[in-house]
Amino acid sequence: MKDADCVATLQWALPRAGLRWPGFRRVRRQVCRRLERRLAELGLPDAAAYRRRLEADAVELQRLAALCTVSVSRFFRDRTVFECLGARVLPALAAAALARRSQRLECWSAGCASGEEAYSLAILWHARCCASLPALGFRVVGTDVDATLLDRAQAGCYRPSSLRELPPEWRELAFENREGQHCLRKLFRGGVEFERRDLRAEPPQREFDLVLCRNLAFTYFGPDLARCALERIASRLRPGGALVIGVHERLPPDARAFSAWPGCRAVFQRAVSA
Ligand SMILES: C[S@@+](CC[C@H](N)C(=O)[O-])C[C@H]1O[C@@H](n2cnc3c(N)ncnc32)[C@H](O)[C@@H]1O
Repeated sequence: MKDADCVATLQWALPRAGLRWPGFRRVRRQVCRRLERRLAELGLPDAAAYRRRLEADAVELQRLAALCTVSVSRFFRDRTVFECLGARVLPALAAAALARRSQRLECWSAGCASGEEAYSLAILWHARCCASLPALGFRVVGTDVDATLLDRAQAGCYRPSSLRELPPEWRELAFENREGQHCLRKLFRGGVEFERRDLRAEPPQREFDLVLCRNLAFTYFGPDLARCALERIASRLRPGGALVIGVHERLPPDARAFSAWPGCRAVFQRAVSA
């Protein structure tokens, strides 16, 4: 399929599936290859025939939305964000948790891919905060819509390229080498769990101090879905808690309950009175 035909199909179809075309612009080659394979599976000759199919078949539109899923991730992706979390955000959240006599800090990585983000938080906690806060536990739940990715997250073994933003001393600390793969040591898996969940449906049933929703809702979701996702996240984020989004993302324009976390890029605080 020609690039122009694929782009025209995506520009037409994605908003109808609640998604946002500009989010997919940079990854369109990958998406277009999947689309070509789907046309071949359906025995359709070209993009025009596929569009007629999409117009007639709402299930195929959902199938297309699932085909467009992008699963790129890595440890400490956008390292400065994690540095700020370790230096400013986690200590402030921990102090607030201790002040209200909480036993642990609760974190949610929404759209966690193969677990890189959830385990990055665990590494950060153990390397930066744990020793000075022995009275406070730490728990992370990673959620994703893709069961295959969650299986990889449970396995906790990664290719070297996934670790390229991780400081070398923490690589040594947190991973052991197993047959060319880097596998997380047991200490860093404790307190990290994974659940299959669609961000367009019910969020986990507990209150969080910190939520990471990066490179998902505010890149790929259309305005209505993005607003709903933010409402769901806000419904589970404790007042005063922190929300981290992707460094190239923006919150929906009417997100009044959130203000920028001082000195930290891409981190927002939920208003205490909200
Ligand atoms: C580009 S990855 C981002 C991973 C990680 N948050 C990061 O920034 O490195 C997007 C992830 O969102 C997941 N995803 C896509 N749609 C989803 C949905 N509706 N609900 C939950 N997860 C979804 C994908 O399976 C993928 O793992």
